[in-house]
Amino acid sequence: MDHFSLIDGAMHAEGVPLELIAATVGTPVYVYSRATLTRHARVFREGLAGVERAHFAYAIKANPNLAVLRVLADAGYGADVVSGGELARALAAGMRAEDVVFSGVGKTRAELQRALDAGIGQFNLELEEEGIALSGLAMAAGTRANATLRVNPDVDAGTHAKISTGKRENKFGVPIDQAIAIYGRLAVLPGLAMRGIAIHIGSQLFDLAPLEAAYRRIGELVAALRAAGHVIERVDLGGGLGVPYKEGDNPPSPADYGAMVARVTKGWNVMLMFEPGRVIAGNAGVLLTRVIWVKPGVVHPYVIVDAAMNDLARPALYDAWHDFAAVRPTGKRMVANIAGPVCESGDTFAMARDIDAVVEGDLAVFRTAGAYGATMASTYNSRALVPEVMVDGDKYAVVADRIEPETIIAAERLPEWLTA
Ligand code: LLP
Repeated sequence: MDHFSLIDGAMHAEGVPLELIAATVGTPVYVYSRATLTRHARVFREGLAGVERAHFAYAIKANPNLAVLRVLADAGYGADVVSGGELARALAAGMRAEDVVFSGVGKTRAELQRALDAGIGQFNLELEEEGIALSGLAMAAGTRANATLRVNPDVDAGTHAKISTGKRENKFGVPIDQAIAIYGRLAVLPGLAMRGIAIHIGSQLFDLAPLEAAYRRIGELVAALRAAGHVIERVDLGGGLGVPYKEGDNPPSPADYGAMVARVTKGWNVMLMFEPGRVIAGNAGVLLTRVIWVKPGVVHPYVIVDAAMNDLARPALYDAWHDFAAVRPTGKRMVANIAGPVCESGDTFAMARDIDAVVEGDLAVFRTAGAYGATMASTYNSRALVPEVMVDGDKYAVVADRIEPETIIAAERLPEWLTA
């Protein structure tokens, strides 16, 4: 459920007409509903009410806007970060350092140092060498770093290949059959306090079976590690729960997921950690756009909108579907291709789609754009960086400015050569 619906024939975000936002902020623009974010944060937490102890770390990568992070901090969420930049955002939004988990296969020594200095709660180590480096940095700082070992369970999450992370050939985690040996070597390092295991098998998951299979393997690993004398206090189960993008999509609910987790992890006696991203932010945002032209096509007309692949990359990258809806639907329908102005055929949001009929100048939205939307935007074709607006009831605020090409050009210069 989200808070984007028709009131008196025109789409609103909560109580704010999208026409008003378009008129005052311009298009394209991302619009987020605060109430939806809060609701999803609550529903996800409630879904996990059946597990003994839980820690919620919102995966910042899904939507790192400061205003979004503040909403989640207020909802009691910490953060899963994957870069020094995301760590800076988590702290800037008021999240407590001890509620931050640092994931990622390529943390640099400088990033590890920054996170140590900040006093974050947990490092999810992706390889033994990273643990050795972190131990050295922690010792030099006179401290010990809380860490888990990320394990690759070798399961097929059944999602798009580009967002699958738990197969043997993926770059993430250590192979599960080497986990005990590597854990043993890390556990004796003086700068590390090894707390347990982490896992994340992929994103936009629609099937609980691979998650369950992966969690069962982790359960066996926890037992084996304990048998080997290790104290296992935490298991980070990652994120990945899918969201509906189109009619008929039926992902497991947080309650379904929570029931499975409670069943599989019964008796583990650990703090379970969760890193939801998309399920929190996905349906909390739309990309508001204006139709520039309706161009006659050979088979179907092209609806050319002022949003493009640089603003919302998911269709071009993953063939992802985002529902398209008119802000003031007439009840008429049309079959059309929807494309942006960028000079690539890949800048196409949909082909031969049955959509609300639109004409030049109309406003429309791409739905379910709150996760992996603005954060993946670029300025390709020297387009502006897309702005973001948050709505709360009948109020709205610009929470990220449109960054105009002039600002970007100002950061470039003709060479002032330095001699090597
Ligand atoms: N934890 C880790 C370690 C992750 O790598 C990810 C996502 C998450 C948590 C959050 O997963 P979520 O709950 O959002 O599924 N750009 C792609 C999605 C990439 C996901 C990467 N990792 C897309 O637009 O579909």
